[in-house]
Amino acid sequence: MAGGIVPSSGGREPGKDYPGETTMYVIIACIVAAMGGLIFGYDIGISGGVTSMTPFLKSFFPSVYRKESGIQSSNQYCKFDSQILTLFTSSLYIAALLASFVASWITRRFGRTWTIFYGGLVFVVGAVMNGLAQNLAMLIIGRLLLGVGVGFASQSVPLYLSEMAPYKMRGALNQMFQLFITIGILIANVLNYFTNRMENGWRWSLGLAAVPGLVILVGGIFLPETPNFLIDRNRSEEAKKRLQRIRGVANVDEEYNDLVAASEASKKVTNPWHRLFFDRNYRPQLTYSVALPSLQQITGINVVMFYAPVLFKTLGFGGDASLMSALITGGVNVLATFVAIWLADRKGRRTLFLAGGIQMFISQLVVGGLIWYKFKWSGEGNISGAYAIIVVLFICAFVTGFAYSWGPLAWLVISEILPLEVRSAGQSVNVSLNMFWTFVIGQAFLILLCHLKFLLFFVFAICVLGMSLFIYITLPETKGIPIEEMSRIWSLNSFWKKYIPTEDGVKLEEI
Ligand code: BGC
Repeated sequence: MAGGIVPSSGGREPGKDYPGETTMYVIIACIVAAMGGLIFGYDIGISGGVTSMTPFLKSFFPSVYRKESGIQSSNQYCKFDSQILTLFTSSLYIAALLASFVASWITRRFGRTWTIFYGGLVFVVGAVMNGLAQNLAMLIIGRLLLGVGVGFASQSVPLYLSEMAPYKMRGALNQMFQLFITIGILIANVLNYFTNRMENGWRWSLGLAAVPGLVILVGGIFLPETPNFLIDRNRSEEAKKRLQRIRGVANVDEEYNDLVAASEASKKVTNPWHRLFFDRNYRPQLTYSVALPSLQQITGINVVMFYAPVLFKTLGFGGDASLMSALITGGVNVLATFVAIWLADRKGRRTLFLAGGIQMFISQLVVGGLIWYKFKWSGEGNISGAYAIIVVLFICAFVTGFAYSWGPLAWLVISEILPLEVRSAGQSVNVSLNMFWTFVIGQAFLILLCHLKFLLFFVFAICVLGMSLFIYITLPETKGIPIEEMSRIWSLNSFWKKYIPTEDGVKLEEI
């Protein structure tokens, strides 16, 4: 989860306006918690750079090194194809996938802040192990520990943000998690650029992951628990005081009572998983909890995020130039995320999804075409000068398209459409599928590049076209609709109303 983003558990009635303001206290708490996104992003950004560093390859993946230096093959498409090398990158996401289920239990039982703390702790241990790695086993075990940290953070941070945020600021604060993911990726890219010049700089790249880990570890100690969690653990007095503190007003009765009511109602649903998977009324929510994280990954975004330096080297850029280009894509990713934060509540989710989709589709086609023109099927050749700049520009156009659409919105829309009774179950489906597909893409990309060659970019383009059509046909606009009214949009939507069982007397409004 990245983490995923879950709306506040508050049961605000339409038309109600809770008293209170956006206090400094809540803003600082949310910024500290959102930094959990840093560890996710740092991991995504660091591995590509490290796996293109010669001393690292020589120490741990000598066969890849021999291929890369052209000793064994002149085929550009295949020089980095190694299942062990990709396992280094993608193993983290399997660990994160499994950890997110454990984390969801810890979050409910011990609290959001303890989950953030444990995530930070395990992450720091993993980072130190990686920085000091003497053999492949240390490297992979460290990576698995980092994955546990990422899984914990992706489950707990978005939940924390949503529960702390005043409802009017929920959209913007939710997207801060994604913003920190992109900042983490950029920091990793910058670091790789410099450590690449140092002897065994890869140790610094991997070891410095401990810094964002420490930030959230300390954050986890000092962050206040959410009122929702305190109510759930029957600590009512404390919960009310906390709510007064974060809203900055004494009269929080209305919101407090709604939180209590929402908590009681959700306790009555004994099996949210069963409800989400088998109750036909929840078909749209189930569909998007499965589709959005999966489709988000098959845009091919993590091909660029993980492998930008490797990809640029594959295209024939020099070592430094490839890290520089990765740094540019990282910067563009951060900037375009601000566009989403700015526009999602103004232009609506559908508009951004579709605009981003068209931009990604065109960029993928052009990148595939440019690579085909230089390398054809044989994969022999090099890219340089103006041609190289054009390739980087179109890769940036692709990243920008993703960063203002599927990047933040896949998380945001799920958070908006899940009603409280199935929220944590839907969220776990979302986080685990995100991690699963990140693993699959991470593991499969280099081998696919080796076999499908430039066609791979056309395959991603077709996927993007398909998912944009899916959004166009099925997704109703969720902008500006109170969460409590969200269930009505399905029965009004021309696509979904066919699938919602109204004829047997069960009306969505009555759930
Ligand atoms: C995705 C990550 C991706 C990142 C890029 C996130 O929303 O879940 O897989 O690397 O965006 O900014």
